[in-house]
Amino acid sequence: MRVIILQTPEAVSQRAADLVCETIATEETPVLGLATGGTPVATYQELVRRYQAGNVSFSACTTFNLDEYVGLPEGHPESYRCFMNQHLFDRVDFDSRRCHLPQGNTLDLQQACQAYEAMIRDSGGIDLQILGIGTDGHIAFNEPGSSLASRTRLKALTEQTRRDNSRFFESLDAVPKLSITMGIGTILEARKIVLLATGEGKADAVRALAEGPVTASVPASALQLHANVTLLLDETAASKLVRREYYMHVEEIQRSLQKAQPRGSHLGRVGSHFDRIAE
Ligand code: PGA
Repeated sequence: MRVIILQTPEAVSQRAADLVCETIATEETPVLGLATGGTPVATYQELVRRYQAGNVSFSACTTFNLDEYVGLPEGHPESYRCFMNQHLFDRVDFDSRRCHLPQGNTLDLQQACQAYEAMIRDSGGIDLQILGIGTDGHIAFNEPGSSLASRTRLKALTEQTRRDNSRFFESLDAVPKLSITMGIGTILEARKIVLLATGEGKADAVRALAEGPVTASVPASALQLHANVTLLLDETAASKLVRREYYMHVEEIQRSLQKAQPRGSHLGRVGSHFDRIAE
């Protein structure tokens, strides 16, 4: 797991946008896994800015969002489909036919879950998955206790998650109780994962994710089982990490390797063969 601690939430969104743009530049038919919530909004704003500056095009991309509320009518402003349209899809050149979210407003929810898994498989799998983390350690809507092998399915939200998300709704009562979410097993099949966390409220969950045991009680801890995960954290979200100094040290070495300088130094010689420390 690579842990990158940045000074500000803005720096987190810049680095996240860099990773998205790298994936688009290197994959012929990039498949992006996208997330909703407050945290990735600044990353989407940065991607829109780069698109408007002519630096990136999304026209070859296919996208799969992590989750969707169940029971909100089509076009409901708090549906994740509307969130994505508003913050990203309608503002850049995605082909809307290839921008997928689970279908939460159908009665055949079982079929919707299976169809979503099949679409991800048929697209060749996700190249880069963006994740946030809940204060209770959830990823997507995989609440504590979720099977680490779970697939896309119907999931009940915890009261904590409903309270956290009620800031977007008229009242707590208006927050749906159910969602369709990619499972932890589904998420772990993405080839690369980047998790974004900013703010002190995430510090305990981040510590449990990176330095606690792998446990269904902290669904995000399952990321320790994946070979290519990057955590992009601001100082406050990283404030409870015990190995904080070590992560900073690794990033310093990483920068030296990329520069591969000075020539003749040990790091310079290593850097001419490897430009990246593995996760
Ligand atoms: P947030 O949500 O970005 O709004 O904090 C993250 C999550 O619940 O996964």
